[in-house]
Amino acid sequence: MKIQPSKRMAAFGPSIFSDLKAYTDQKKQQGDILIDLSLGSPDLPPDERVRTVLADESAKADAYGYTLGGTTQFYQSVADYYKRRTRVLLNPQTEIVQTMGSQEGLVHLPLAFCDPGDIVLTTNPAYVAYEAGISLAGAVPYFMPLLPENQFLPDLSLIPEDIAQKAKLMLLNLPGNPVPAMPNRAFFEQVIDFAKKYHIIVLHDAAYSEFYFEGGEPFSFLSISGAMEVGMEINSLSKTFSLAGARIAYIAGNADMIRVLKQLKSNLDYGVFAPVQKAAIFALDHAEEITNKLRIEFRARAEALSSGLQQIGWPVEQPGGGMFLWTKIPSGSDDRAFVFEAIDKAGVVMVPGSAFGTAGKGYVRIALVQPVPLLKQAAERLKKVIV
Ligand SMILES: Cc1ncc(COP(=O)(O)O)c(C=O)c1O
Repeated sequence: MKIQPSKRMAAFGPSIFSDLKAYTDQKKQQGDILIDLSLGSPDLPPDERVRTVLADESAKADAYGYTLGGTTQFYQSVADYYKRRTRVLLNPQTEIVQTMGSQEGLVHLPLAFCDPGDIVLTTNPAYVAYEAGISLAGAVPYFMPLLPENQFLPDLSLIPEDIAQKAKLMLLNLPGNPVPAMPNRAFFEQVIDFAKKYHIIVLHDAAYSEFYFEGGEPFSFLSISGAMEVGMEINSLSKTFSLAGARIAYIAGNADMIRVLKQLKSNLDYGVFAPVQKAAIFALDHAEEITNKLRIEFRARAEALSSGLQQIGWPVEQPGGGMFLWTKIPSGSDDRAFVFEAIDKAGVVMVPGSAFGTAGKGYVRIALVQPVPLLKQAAERLKKVIV
């Protein structure tokens, strides 16, 4: 039988990550020892107590039913976490919806708010799931470039009036992937004014909110006056608590928007496995102890890799947070060729910037997902590709 994929599938080509995997698998089979700094998947294990809760809860005979969404206790723990860490007060019943990881939430969210042809303001470069979600909903992306001259923040004044009038949704991500730009109050205030003026829903992706290397607490979009009127924040336990495989996240914000998302979700799935929710509750309730350790480790990694690369003559800037270094390649402009050359000559795996959008051309993303000694070794090895 001839299978004819839907026209919609044309939007989903093979990703650079599968190309990199095929190439590095082949290299490993040939005996190469690679230092993999490509995927942003946390390498540290979750806190031992979180794993114990998951194991104990999974052993219970009655833990295997459908949960039909977040439990009351999960929503309370999210609200408590937000109150303690960001001073944002959330109503646990009406202002939070649980998702099966933030990828699931991000990809489905445009379905809830956009009709085919609606414009979604997103960044270039951006985390790849945003475009997938926009395409699934039949919406149309308008790309706001992230440029060094604007501290890698979108310049809202450059959005043409007719685009702003037609836009339905804006997606932001600070600290970002792949660009580790940091959130700040003045920028979020501009976003809120813009969103109010043009009736645009804002979704801030805070997946890396606990990865800040200066200041004492994470910075929430929802903490800015007016944010709850225009938007929501999606946050994940994947990075903050090293629970990426457990698939648990949540969206918090405007109650009317959350109601729409809950309605959509009730038609998509039957909720996250109860023991995963219990483990997440423990993690959220003990966030400070867990994330402080993680932050110290990632700050040390960011310093080690940045200074290692600077020492070999690659002028990189040390990130202020996030899980990545985002930097121009040391020579030329073909980031894809550079990445494959680095695998061949230095045995270091990075991701070409253009995988995240056209504005990423000439850049690479380097994930801080190895311990300090390996990052130092990676910098040393990369000498071979500095010309
Ligand atoms: C910016 C950003 N948002 C969301 C995600 C998805 O994470 P998860 O689905 O594990 O919550 C990622 C994963 O790398 C990410 O980088």
